[in-house]
Amino acid sequence: MNLRVLPCRGLTGTCKVPGDKSISHRAAIIGALAEGTTEIDNYLFGADCLSTLRCLESLGVQVTCTENGVRVKGCGLKGLKEPEDILDAGNSGTTMRLLLGALSGQDFFAVLTGDRSLRGRPMGRVVKPLVMMGAEIHGRAGDTRAPLAVKGCSSLKPIAYNLPVASAQVKSAILLAGLNAPGTTCVIQPQKSRDHTERMLKSFGALIEVDGLAVRLQGGQPLQGRRIRVPGDISAAAFVIVAASILPDCEVVIEDVGINPTRIGILEVMERMGAQIEVTNRRDWNGEPVADLRVRSHGLCGTIIEGALLPRVIDEIPVLAVAAAAAEGKTEIRNAEELRFKETDRLQAIARELGKMGACLEERPDGLVIEGKGALKGARVHSWGDHRIAMALAVAGLLAGGETTIEDCDCVDVSFPGFATLLRSLGAVVETES
Ligand code: S3P
Repeated sequence: MNLRVLPCRGLTGTCKVPGDKSISHRAAIIGALAEGTTEIDNYLFGADCLSTLRCLESLGVQVTCTENGVRVKGCGLKGLKEPEDILDAGNSGTTMRLLLGALSGQDFFAVLTGDRSLRGRPMGRVVKPLVMMGAEIHGRAGDTRAPLAVKGCSSLKPIAYNLPVASAQVKSAILLAGLNAPGTTCVIQPQKSRDHTERMLKSFGALIEVDGLAVRLQGGQPLQGRRIRVPGDISAAAFVIVAASILPDCEVVIEDVGINPTRIGILEVMERMGAQIEVTNRRDWNGEPVADLRVRSHGLCGTIIEGALLPRVIDEIPVLAVAAAAAEGKTEIRNAEELRFKETDRLQAIARELGKMGACLEERPDGLVIEGKGALKGARVHSWGDHRIAMALAVAGLLAGGETTIEDCDCVDVSFPGFATLLRSLGAVVETES
C-alpha cells in the first residue's frame, strides 16, 4: 500500500493517538508473568503488539479481547509453557528482546525469530547478560542474530550489569529475567532510557528501586495482576506535533498522551526550536504521567540534538529531521548511531528519502546535519519498510509543494493503525492506494 499526500494548508481539531507501544508490550508480558488477571485498556492493536500477544498465546497464556483492550490471564513467574513451534516476533525488537528475558527463567526450550529486518538486528547485547545469568542461548552469527534458541533455567543467578548502550529493551530483558533470579539483579545504564518496565513492575508489586542510573530488583517475588490503562503514544503524537508546528494555521489538541520524563525529548527539542506546545490536564495513569497537548503553528529554528537527550528522543529523530528541514538555520543530530540498528538504518533512510524531496541533509556516521528552509518538493519516496520513516515522509509531504507518494506503507500499522484517517480528520488530504 502507498500513501498519497497533498500539500496541506492547516490542521485543526482534537484527536487521540493509539496506545503506547512500549507500555502495551510490557503490560501483556508482565501480566502473563503475574498471578491473577490483568485488564489492559487502550492496548495498541498494532502489528508489533499483536506479535507479542500471539507469542504469549503460544506460551500457554490465555489472552482475550475486551471492549477496551485485552485481558491477560497470568501464569505466575515460572508458569509459561513450552511452545510447540517457533515464536514469531514479526518486525518487533521489543517482543524479541523482552521475551528473551522472560524465557530465560523458564525451564524449557523455545526458538524466537522475526521478519528479515528483525533477523538482521543486533541481539548479542541482550544474549550476553542473559547467558551470564544462566540461560543457554544460541543463534546465527555467533549467537547475535535471530533465529535464537533459548533453553531457560529455573534457577537464574542475579547479576550486576553495566549496559554498554542506553537500551530500554536490554535493561528490560535483564529485569524480566531477574524476576526469576533470587537475590538482587542490578542494571546500571550509561544514560537514562525509557523506564516503563521499572514503573510497571512496581505497580505489579515487584521490589524494585531506581537510584540514579542504577535499577535494582529483588528476584523471586510474585507479581499481582491489575488493571492498566495505556496512555496515548507520544512517539505517535510526535508526527502530529511536528505537522501542526510546521504547517500554517494549525491548532490541534492531542488528548491523553503519555508524558513520561524519559520519553518527552520530542517536546523539549520542539520547544527549543520555537514550537508552541501547551501541556494541560496532567494526571497519572497507573504510575505513568499523562496530559493533553495543544499545538499551534509556529516558525522553528535549527538546534543541536546530542548526548543524554538521545535515548529520550530516539524514535522521534526521523520526524525531527522533517522539522529541521522546515526550520530556519542548521540542525545537527549527533551521537545517534543507534538509529542505524532500528527497523532499518534510519539515518541513511531519512537522508536519502528527504533528499529526494529537496531537503539539504548530510549524513554523518553518528547523525545528520540539516540545513533548513529549503522548500520541500513533492516526490515519489520509499518507506524502506519502516513505520517511522513512512510517517515522517508523510509529514514532509504535507509541507511540500506538489504531490508526494510514499511507497510501501503497510508498515505504518506496526505502531499507528489509523494514521491516515487521523490526519484526514484534522483536515489533511492523505489517501491510500494499493
Ligand atoms: C523500546 C526501546 C527503544 C525504542 C523502541 C522501543 C522499548 O529501543 O527505540 O522503539 O519499548 O523498550 P532500544 O532499547 O533498542 O533503544
